[in-house]
Amino acid sequence: MIRVRSLAEAKPVRPEAIARQQCIRPACGAAYDLKSAHQRCPRCGALLDVAYDWERLPVPERLALFDERRASAGDPLDASGVWRFRELLPFAERDKVLTIGEGQTQLRRTDGVAAYVGLEPGRLFLQYEGLNPSGSFKDNGMTGAFTHANMMGARYAACASTGNTSASLALFAGVSGLLKAVVFVGSGKIAYGKLSQALDYGAATLQIAGDFDDAMRRVQEVCRQTSLYLMNSLNPFRLEGQKAIMYRILEARDWQVPDWIIVPGGNLGNCSAFGKAFAELFELGLIDHIPRLAVINATGANTLYQLYHQQGVTWNGGRTDAARIKQLYEQMDQTGYKPHTVASAIEISRPVNLPKALRALDIMKGVVREVSDDYILEHKALVGRYGFGCEPASGASVAGLHVLLDEGLIDRDDHVVCILTGHELKDPDATVRYHTGIDMKAAQVPPPKPVKGKYANPPIKVADDLDAICKALEGAGPSSRR
Ligand code: F0G
Repeated sequence: MIRVRSLAEAKPVRPEAIARQQCIRPACGAAYDLKSAHQRCPRCGALLDVAYDWERLPVPERLALFDERRASAGDPLDASGVWRFRELLPFAERDKVLTIGEGQTQLRRTDGVAAYVGLEPGRLFLQYEGLNPSGSFKDNGMTGAFTHANMMGARYAACASTGNTSASLALFAGVSGLLKAVVFVGSGKIAYGKLSQALDYGAATLQIAGDFDDAMRRVQEVCRQTSLYLMNSLNPFRLEGQKAIMYRILEARDWQVPDWIIVPGGNLGNCSAFGKAFAELFELGLIDHIPRLAVINATGANTLYQLYHQQGVTWNGGRTDAARIKQLYEQMDQTGYKPHTVASAIEISRPVNLPKALRALDIMKGVVREVSDDYILEHKALVGRYGFGCEPASGASVAGLHVLLDEGLIDRDDHVVCILTGHELKDPDATVRYHTGIDMKAAQVPPPKPVKGKYANPPIKVADDLDAICKALEGAGPSSRR
């Protein structure tokens, strides 16, 4: 490993020489060029990582060297809370990086929330990712995926989304003009704050007859059959960007590792990225221990909780018990199970990053808990009371902390960071309903008027069917620039 004592000494190395995409299953380990796009390992079908030859890379001697960049002005990469740490995600040439100033977020101490849940003062911090340009943590990953799309020369990109990924993709597409965005959302599931973003930023928005899991399955199929570039967290370059959330937490804590990181779990990309970040920092000798991880599911969308906590399915060195997972999914199909939670962002029953999440739980000695909708809303309101408005899914992390404190697994004087993944204004209906009992969507009388605005970009309702979707896309001329 080439150790540098100042980041100014860190001469860039050609990414193709030291980075690749690699199958996460150690028994396969197949490697693929950086300049290729795969949804999964073409050889065995497992998920892919971005892997580096760290010994050939200039790596800072100490994490504190990144402090130099916080003070520097004028370099757009240093203004990004992701690319400021570029030596830790060195897959792109500088001129290919696409940044919109994401990741300028804060780690905020909150003694008020700490007192309510039972932590000592000075022990609870909230990582407020709602401050990102599109209002959620997704921008950390989107800059990674857009950078790779730029390397690939992609012209169209798509994602399925419960709302925030689509808002982020649409925003990056609108600001950069690099490519045209197509987003797949479930019908009636998406919070209006998020839907409004995709429409306003000009993405072609397909409202699939079905839920997120249907849209996720379908977008993968459409991307395989067309030249659309996939922007979901199956894309390993997304998760490279999301590692930076952990770097910023360490940075804000003067590079001291906390005891616990707590995060809501949906499609399980975020927790997967956190595990990779800490495994790499530890391997590089930049931290001397790894914090523990708690992933919090909503009770109405608790696949990870069922598999990991209740059935004991683990990473097991890459030999995860696939039969148990298949059995659960078959049971869901047979009983017609559909996930249901007020935290619509995490209303997901088949998380695509499940194997990586199990790996992260292994790396970080993790635990998984489920919390009810009422408990989510109560803790969301508590977070709001102390001035950190967040959307319901984010409230799950604080609710999960409360459960773990009551169990005694987390100590009153542990240092804890809860991730607030999305801004309160993403889902104002949930907040108003909690405080007033009024369902604003249902209360729309008279029914909405037909669309008239000059720049109107209404969602396109489409059957959950490949031919119907392709036809709709032809008509949509994805995201024509205004
Ligand atoms: N919190 C918020 C606000 C989210 O939008 C999501 C995921 C999560 C938590 C869960 O993160 O999927 O990495 O486990 N939203 C995705 C979307 C699924 O489409 O916007 P995860």
